[in-house]
Amino acid sequence: MHNDDRYLEIVNLVKAYPNPYGDDIKVVDGFNLMIAKGEVFSVIGHSGCGKSTVLTMTAGLNDITAGNVVVDGKEIVGSGPDRAVVFQAPCLLPWMTAYGNVMLGVNRVYPHATKAERDDLVCYYLSRVGLSDAMRKYPRELSGGMQQRVGIARALALHPKLLLLDEPFGRLDSLTRMELQDVVLELLDREKITTMVITHDVDEAIYMADKVVMMTNGPGAKVGQVLELPFGRPRVRAEVLEHPEYYNLRGQLIGFLEEQEHEKEAAKNEADESANDRKDAAA
Ligand SMILES: Nc1ncnc2c1ncn2[C@@H]1O[C@H](COP(=O)(O)OP(=O)(O)OP(=O)(O)O)[C@@H](O)[C@H]1O
Ligand SMILES: [Mg+2]
Repeated sequence: MHNDDRYLEIVNLVKAYPNPYGDDIKVVDGFNLMIAKGEVFSVIGHSGCGKSTVLTMTAGLNDITAGNVVVDGKEIVGSGPDRAVVFQAPCLLPWMTAYGNVMLGVNRVYPHATKAERDDLVCYYLSRVGLSDAMRKYPRELSGGMQQRVGIARALALHPKLLLLDEPFGRLDSLTRMELQDVVLELLDREKITTMVITHDVDEAIYMADKVVMMTNGPGAKVGQVLELPFGRPRVRAEVLEHPEYYNLRGQLIGFLEEQEHEKEAAKNEADESANDRKDAAA
């Protein structure tokens, strides 16, 4: 069954990790989301709420405790090149050049393509991310931003159904960050890949995506609110920043995060009070 409106379906997803006492704590509990084909969505939420956990489960890199993830009508089982991941730290093989690192994935996904076809593909994506002149360099010869470009080229050269980005620009200075946001947006405009972007930066969450998924605080984190964004594509930064809705939308995201913070404090105070009550009762 192919239904482009529900290209990615995350249904009642749960992740339980054992705590130091051996009890299972449901970090994520009842996470539900439906994403259309080609949609780009960002995920924001406080540190530790479970964003990466949802992403790694979707990638098939982390066992799912309960619930399921369906991509293009098929429930995922384990990881696969149909779901490409880019993490905050580029995990490139140090003994291979930029070219070699991208070729590794291409060889895996296109074993029947000719050498010339595979070479074309690798060179195409490396030039798209601005590395035409650095293809033969080793990771140690590349800056952090350039390494991240290789990671992006490697992910996109797989022609994945789903691109999963976990704070991909988190370690970069703001200028490089903006450049890479545009590199990725340009590639997404060409290829219409359904994409998840985890970010701590509300401006990035808005600039990159068609909608922003806001996660509640864990334990038991789930989707709190989804904010639809009115900006068209291709994205033009100045147009987004000058859009009459921009500051209102930004305010809604920050408002949600602040509300979550207050709830966390209230829950902590309540726990402290009941601990004090118990102490008083014992005295
Ligand atoms: N392997 C693990 N074993 C036990 N607990 C874990 C494990 N991995 C993550 N956790 C816990 O699960 C929760 C969610 O972690 P996760 O990394 O998904 O959060 P996050 O939202 O991505 O945070 P950040 O914004 O800091 O990257 C955290 O409380 C974390 O301590
Ligand atoms: Mg994370």
